[in-house]
Amino acid sequence: MARVALVTGGTRGIGAAISVALKNCGFTVAANYAGNDEAAAKFKAETGIAVFKWDVGNAEACAAGIKDVEGALGPVDVLVNNAGVTKDAMLHKMTTAQWDDVIRIDLGSMFYMSRPLIDGMRERNFGRIINISSINGQKGQMGQTNYSAAKAGIIGFTKALAQETAKKGITVNVVCPGYIDTEMVQAVPPKVLEGIIATIPVGRLGKAEEIAKMVCFLASEDAAFITGATMTVNGAQYIAG
Ligand SMILES: NC(=O)c1ccc[n+]([C@@H]2O[C@H](COP(=O)([O-])OP(=O)(O)OC[C@H]3O[C@@H](n4cnc5c(N)ncnc54)[C@H](OP(=O)(O)O)[C@@H]3O)[C@@H](O)[C@H]2O)c1
Repeated sequence: MARVALVTGGTRGIGAAISVALKNCGFTVAANYAGNDEAAAKFKAETGIAVFKWDVGNAEACAAGIKDVEGALGPVDVLVNNAGVTKDAMLHKMTTAQWDDVIRIDLGSMFYMSRPLIDGMRERNFGRIINISSINGQKGQMGQTNYSAAKAGIIGFTKALAQETAKKGITVNVVCPGYIDTEMVQAVPPKVLEGIIATIPVGRLGKAEEIAKMVCFLASEDAAFITGATMTVNGAQYIAG
């Protein structure tokens, strides 16, 4: 029977590409989303992938959502923690709400989603947890103290959980995309975006499918010896040591 993969924020952008790629790799996929019903319905109609709505920044909602997914599709063997938001401001202008929202949704969700699933993965001696961080969690980015802190936190979370679960057949890895051509990046003012592309040695934005391919490999049986790793996919914009 096909393994079940759950992708948070799996109906748009990078998450949508990951959901489709995992389906093409033979997984039964559940795609979570937050509130854009129209985009989710369109995604479901186009791909045939089941969609489930809840806020990954809410622990109770995650527990209930996971229960629904497992009730409908079976135990989740692959978790892709992809959902994330930005609420940019220079620190001297950042509100507590901007800080709290990004930490809760981008970093808190790692715990809220992994915690209800980890017992089952441990019992079955198999699991794949793939977390989506960002180049800006590796290098920091002006105007993004909240986002850079959350995304750097994901890397630490990944390294710690990988050590805890290694003997149980569960791998935990983090993918750090550079600038990828999605709505999140298209929202950046054109002049700023031009400047960003000029700093990417490959000379272009990345494609969501390029992140999805990496996730599919990490989800596969072939990637059993890769755990605790930080996979940088950024066109050489930032080369982490
Ligand atoms: N785009 C880039 O260049 C880039 C670069 C580095 C890292 N990343 C990271 O990659 C991930 C995906 O980015 P993206 O650009 O593809 O984002 P996106 O196009 O804005 O899509 C975001 C997805 O996440 C969902 N989502 C947002 N908040 C959520 C919440 N609280 N609960 C559940 N789902 C939620 C959205 O659901 P709705 O449709 O309902 O809103 C949507 O499906 C993020 O973690 C982001 O930080 C992106």
